[in-house]
Amino acid sequence: MSDPAVLCENLRFAYVKDRPVLDIERLEIARGERVFLFGPSGSGKTTLLGILSGVLTQFEGKVDVLGREIAKLSGSERDAFRGAHLGYIFQLFNLIPYLTVVENITLPCRLHAERRKALGGVPLEEAAKAAAAKLGIRHLLAQKVTSLSVGQQQRVAAARALVGAPALIIADEPTSSLDYDHREKFLELLFDSCKEAKATILFVSHDRSLMHLFDRQLDLAVINRAQTVATAE
Ligand SMILES: Nc1ncnc2c1ncn2[C@@H]1O[C@H](COP(=O)(O)OP(=O)(O)OP(=O)(O)O)[C@@H](O)[C@H]1O
Ligand SMILES: [Mg+2]
Repeated sequence: MSDPAVLCENLRFAYVKDRPVLDIERLEIARGERVFLFGPSGSGKTTLLGILSGVLTQFEGKVDVLGREIAKLSGSERDAFRGAHLGYIFQLFNLIPYLTVVENITLPCRLHAERRKALGGVPLEEAAKAAAAKLGIRHLLAQKVTSLSVGQQQRVAAARALVGAPALIIADEPTSSLDYDHREKFLELLFDSCKEAKATILFVSHDRSLMHLFDRQLDLAVINRAQTVATAE
C-alpha cells in the first residue's frame, strides 16, 4: 500500500510511566477503507483515536495520518490539520453548549477555510440543513444544544463531523445513544458522505451488529501487545 490513510509503526503510548496502554507493531488503513475497531472497555480504543487525531502527542514510534507525520507537526499545525481534514465524533460529543444546533454543525467549516472549500459552492447553512434533515434533527437547528436529548446531541455531533467532507472520519461510539432507526440513518449518511468524498472511516463501537457493514473488522486486543484489560468484555 503506497499511500495509506493511517500508518502506525511500533506505536507505544502510556499515560503513566511503565504502564503501557498501547503497544502496536503495525497498523495500516488504506485510503477509502471503512474499518470497524472493537475491543473490551479500557483496551485503548479512545486512546488510539486521540493519537491519530493529534490530541495525545506523547507517544513513541511513527504515526502518519493522511501522509503527514503527526509527531513532526507543531501544536498549531496539528490543530489546523485536524480542522481541515478530520471529522471526529467524540464519545462524549464535545458540542459547544452556548451555540445552537446549526452553529455547532457549521463550526468546523467556519473555522477552517479548506474544509469550507470542500462544500464546492453549496452554501454552508444548506449543507448543514441537508445533513440535519437526513439525521432527523432539521427541526432543531435553531435550538441550543443543551435543550436536546442525548440521542439528538449525538446526531448533531455526527452532522458536524460530516459537513465539509473531511478525508478521515474518526468516530468513537457514535451510535451508542441512538435508537435503531436513527442508527441506520446515521450509518447511511456516514457511508454516503464518505463515498462521495472517498473518505476513510475508523469507527469504534461495542455494537457488533454493525460490524459486517464495514470493509474490515479490527480487534484492538489482537493488535495491541500492551494488555490493559484482564477480563473479557
Ligand atoms: N487521561 C487518562 N489518564 C490516565 N489513564 C487513562 C486516561 N484515559 C484513559 N486511561 C486509561 O487507559 C486505558 C485505555 O483507556 P481508553 O479510554 O482508551 O479505553 P477504551 O478502549 O476507549 O474504553 P471504552 O470502551 O470504555 O471507551 C484504560 O485503562 C484507562 O483507564
Ligand atoms: Mg472509549
